[in-house]
Amino acid sequence: MTTSTRLAGGDDGPGHLRPLLSVAVDALKKGTVDRAGPLPAGGPDFVGSPTSDVLPREGLGVEPALAEMVQAFARGAADPADPACVAHLHTPPLAVAVAADLVAAVLNSSLDSWDQGPSGTRVESEVVRTLADLIGYDPAAASGVITSGGTESNLTGLLLAREHGLLRTFGVPPTVTGIPPQAQGRLRILCAETTHFSVARSAGVLGLGEDSVVRVPVDEHHRMAPQALRALLEEMRGRDELPIALIATAGTTDLGVIDPLPELADIAAEYDLWFHVDAAYGGGALFSERLAPLLAGIERADSVALDLHKLGWQPVAAGAFLVRRAETFEPMERRVAYLNPADDEDAGFRSLLGRSLRTTRRPDALKIAVTFRALGRDELGTLVDRCHDLAHHAADAVRAEPRFELYRDPVLTTVLFRYLPESGDVDRVNAELRRTLLREGTAVVGRTELDGSVWLKLTLLNPNTTRGEIETLLADVLAAGAKETS
Ligand SMILES: Cc1ncc(COP(=O)(O)O)c(C=O)c1O
Repeated sequence: MTTSTRLAGGDDGPGHLRPLLSVAVDALKKGTVDRAGPLPAGGPDFVGSPTSDVLPREGLGVEPALAEMVQAFARGAADPADPACVAHLHTPPLAVAVAADLVAAVLNSSLDSWDQGPSGTRVESEVVRTLADLIGYDPAAASGVITSGGTESNLTGLLLAREHGLLRTFGVPPTVTGIPPQAQGRLRILCAETTHFSVARSAGVLGLGEDSVVRVPVDEHHRMAPQALRALLEEMRGRDELPIALIATAGTTDLGVIDPLPELADIAAEYDLWFHVDAAYGGGALFSERLAPLLAGIERADSVALDLHKLGWQPVAAGAFLVRRAETFEPMERRVAYLNPADDEDAGFRSLLGRSLRTTRRPDALKIAVTFRALGRDELGTLVDRCHDLAHHAADAVRAEPRFELYRDPVLTTVLFRYLPESGDVDRVNAELRRTLLREGTAVVGRTELDGSVWLKLTLLNPNTTRGEIETLLADVLAAGAKETS
């Protein structure tokens, strides 16, 4: 066996892995030092690959290839562990989670059949129970699955909503028979104007059409307005339309706003709508004693999306999809002769195949379980609170600077603001100053649009960032703005 073909697992695997990890970690360190900031300076043209020949006829050998590519990758990365890398819900992962994830890769367990992941199957089931409990579901009645993220969780939620709605009204299961002609063009999904784009995209994927998604206006706090929702539902009745799902958000991507969950749960129950809560961002608030009350009512959802690769400090991917009643998950079940034969299942060799739209599936629950056990709920809550405090500190600093305008006080850990130039178009200046910071390699600041204008966004997910580092970041934004207008 050549060194290139050594395996990571088996009796000898860890011995082979250790020196390679050393090479990778050293190269990671060198690349990080080369970059010297949150992202490489120079803009897109300067983020080179070390080679244009990714698949040479003859390989370079393990250590040289690993060292070269890892160093270049780290040099060219946007590093969420840098305090100035704050554009997205792009979390800096905890070292403990990354170490656990390495083991998932080595053993390459897969959760589509019990025999590819006995311990993975067990750990995922325990993590799902824990998350169900965190939401406030009865863990004995609930079910769920670890997903690739909020997008997959929202898709799964809408799939179950479609199933529930069509079975109830027409007695047909659309996953088997498709959408019946009498339902075509009549099905409706209600969500706020601020709902994540993956909801509409899922409606398209599920054959409901993106046009089936009806946007409910929001109130002055950017929360879905229950009265407006009710009015829309009544109008739909009059037009013989069939609303099937209500999607609420607990933590909108930009403002971190939480829709009024108790009122929406009441309306969903009254109109027999599937109630899905997208808590991909805000779900992390459940760890915090201070912030968890904001999510009251989430336990009444039929399904919930959580993302531990946001406020949970996990390496991607670490999403979760939970349902309040395990039986509502049944439309996902599949019997596949080579994966989960009935007699194996009856004998207790239960697979998780029927929980996911994927077949081969990583045991992403391992890193989550290790992190939970290592930190416990209290320390996770402290990390959430620290990010929340940082957001308030940043908002205060923005308010104190006359050249900045704060959009509104933070709810979770994002801060929306813009630079007010002395002259020139405010949208253009803010868009340009953000690109300047990217090009110079100084900061990765977010950008979004609200009320038709460009706003900058700090998404604060690094609990180790100091107040001083936030002030430096804001000073860099200010300097970039001044440069744009000079
Ligand atoms: C509210 C919300 N839902 C869903 C998603 C999609 O999550 P993912 O990127 O993990 O698929 C995001 C991503 O930022 C989000 O903010």
